[in-house]
Amino acid sequence: MRARGFVLWFTGLSGAGKSTLASRVAPILRERGLQVEILDGDAVRENLSKGLSFSKADRDVNVRRIAFVANLLARNGVCAITAAISPYRAIREECRRRSEAPFVEVFVDAPLSVTEARDVKGLYKQARAGEIPHFTGVTDPYEPPLDPEIVVRTGEESLEASVAHIIAALEARGLVPA
Ligand code: ADX
Repeated sequence: MRARGFVLWFTGLSGAGKSTLASRVAPILRERGLQVEILDGDAVRENLSKGLSFSKADRDVNVRRIAFVANLLARNGVCAITAAISPYRAIREECRRRSEAPFVEVFVDAPLSVTEARDVKGLYKQARAGEIPHFTGVTDPYEPPLDPEIVVRTGEESLEASVAHIIAALEARGLVPA
């Protein structure tokens, strides 16, 4: 029997931990026999969305492209994990509506105070200095999900705890064999 595909859609601020979580969850799902692909925000912007800006219009194009590919994968039995900020609620909801496979939204809920203090890529500092226009959370909006399937508080809990929480939630939905 072929596994049922699904979309695991991470959303959250830059530096909240989306990519890290995706890269930690993926091998666990593979160990359980699932086929997995990660559509990571940075990798997508280097390839599929090369040349797009961070205006609302271009972010919407970027996020719709990610959802389009995730849907192609998921409807063919793959677990498609996406890790883009995807800041706009309405576009995320559109991606959910269009999905032909189960759509599981994971809100990577780290407050700006935490992501900015970490500033892994040094971009918050540049944004505060006015060097990066419309930076999410600083000079551009982030609209948190109202009713996500999964919430992980990466500012408060360990990475291991967040990963375990996600796997348990997928098991509980019957999407991942225990
Ligand atoms: S999204 O809004 O279109 O979903 P995406 O996840 O692809 O964003 O890209 C976000 C990454 O691009 C951030 O983690 C950061 O490294 C970089 N980046 C560069 N400029 C910006 C900006 N203005 N706002 C947010 N992230 C930016």
